[in-house]
This record gives sequence, structure tokens and C-alpha cells, in this order.
Amino acid sequence: MAPQKWIFGNWKMAQSLATAQDFFKGWKVSVSTVREIVIFPSYPHLPAALESVKSLKLPLKVGAQDCSTEERGAFTGEVSAQTLAEIGAAYVLIGHSERRRRGPETDESLAKKIRNVFAAGLKPVYCLGETEAERDSGRLLEVLKHQSSLVAVESKDMIVAYEPVWAIGTGKVASISDIEYAHKSLRDLLPKNTPILYGGSVNAQNASSILSVANVDGLLVGGASLKADEFSRIATANL
Ligand code: PGA
Repeated sequence: MAPQKWIFGNWKMAQSLATAQDFFKGWKVSVSTVREIVIFPSYPHLPAALESVKSLKLPLKVGAQDCSTEERGAFTGEVSAQTLAEIGAAYVLIGHSERRRRGPETDESLAKKIRNVFAAGLKPVYCLGETEAERDSGRLLEVLKHQSSLVAVESKDMIVAYEPVWAIGTGKVASISDIEYAHKSLRDLLPKNTPILYGGSVNAQNASSILSVANVDGLLVGGASLKADEFSRIATANL
């Protein structure tokens, strides 16, 4: 059997409850043996998403887009990894560039979140990637080295998503050789067997060629994961 690929859909703040329900009702693909397909809805939609997956018996898992640095207590507006575990989430995105930008996140806050996710029995999906300015000034490797160093310190059992910031939501997908280079660099930097996903303007047209790049173990998809039809085509690309 081909090695398992991870196909993740980050819904950000883009779905309404009704469009999220349409997605689950429209999901027809059953490829759970070779693909782990995970949807990341916004916090309030998590229970409804979990309920849909259960009642419709879909081969999908559900994760959250972030969590608190804290375990429990007086932190108004925050959501702990423990709470996410209680409701049945399986994964948590950590360090997405949109969170890093609005956060701001620090190495310390990211490490605390990762530890909380593991302590709650969930799996962190650690997002990293360079900005356009960092790439243009020749600092790509330096940035990847710094951001990936956290993985070695915190655990060997993490999923990493490489998302060049300039390719997220812009339609400017990285070239195959850019992806190949970044993923090979990360493969050398990260603990052995760490799955490395690519994200940034992935769609049903480019998914297959990106999935066939060496060291690409899956995809983290934003805009193109919102509709069941398009995301199904991405989830089954290359099969
Ligand atoms: P995009 O987003 O596919 O819309 O570029 C990817 C992401 O932010 O994870």
C-alpha cells in the first residue's frame, strides 16, 4: 500500500454553519486507508462538525485551528487543548502564519501550546514558512532552521506543514522546485519520519503534481477545502 498522505482542510473563518453542513452532506469520498483527511472548522462549529462526521459515518477527522497557551483558568475568550480533547477533536494547528501575524506568537508561546496539545492527547500540526521579504533577502534556510528547531525540542511525533507565507491565500503557489527544495531542507532538519505537508494556494488542479514531489507527505488546504466537490478531488488526487 502507498504510504499514507495527510490531506488537511483549514476552514479559517470562512464557513457559515449552513455551508459547513452542506460540505459534510456533500462528502462522498471514502479513502481513509491511504489518506487521513482532517477538517479544521472554527471553534464554535466543532461540535456540529463532529456530530455530522459521526452521524453520516464519514471517513473524516476534525481538528481545531489553534489553542490557548494555558491549561485552564481565568483566560476569557481562550480555548484550551483539554477542552478540545473533551469534545472529540483529534488535531490542533499550531503557529499558522495568520495566527503568528495576529498573535503575536513567540517560540515560548508555540512551545507551550504544543505541550498542552500533547498533554491533552491530541496531535499538533506545526505550521512554519518564510515571508516574501525573508525569501527575497536570502534567509529561507535560516528561517526554516529556526522554526523547525522547536520540533526537535518538543517532540518527535509532530506533523509539520510548510506554508510559504507569500503563497497563502494569494493564488501564488510555490513552484515545484521551490517546494522540492524547502521540503528536502526540512527533511534534513526535522526528526526522522516527521510528516511534512505543503500548504499555500493548493487547489484541485495543482494537488496531484504537488503530492508527487519528493518529501511531500500531504497538503494543508485553505480556500479550496471549503466545498466538498473540490476538496474531494484534492483528497483523491494521485490515487
Ligand atoms: P490557502 O490557505 O490554501 O487558501 O492558500 C492555506 C492555509 O492557510 O493553510
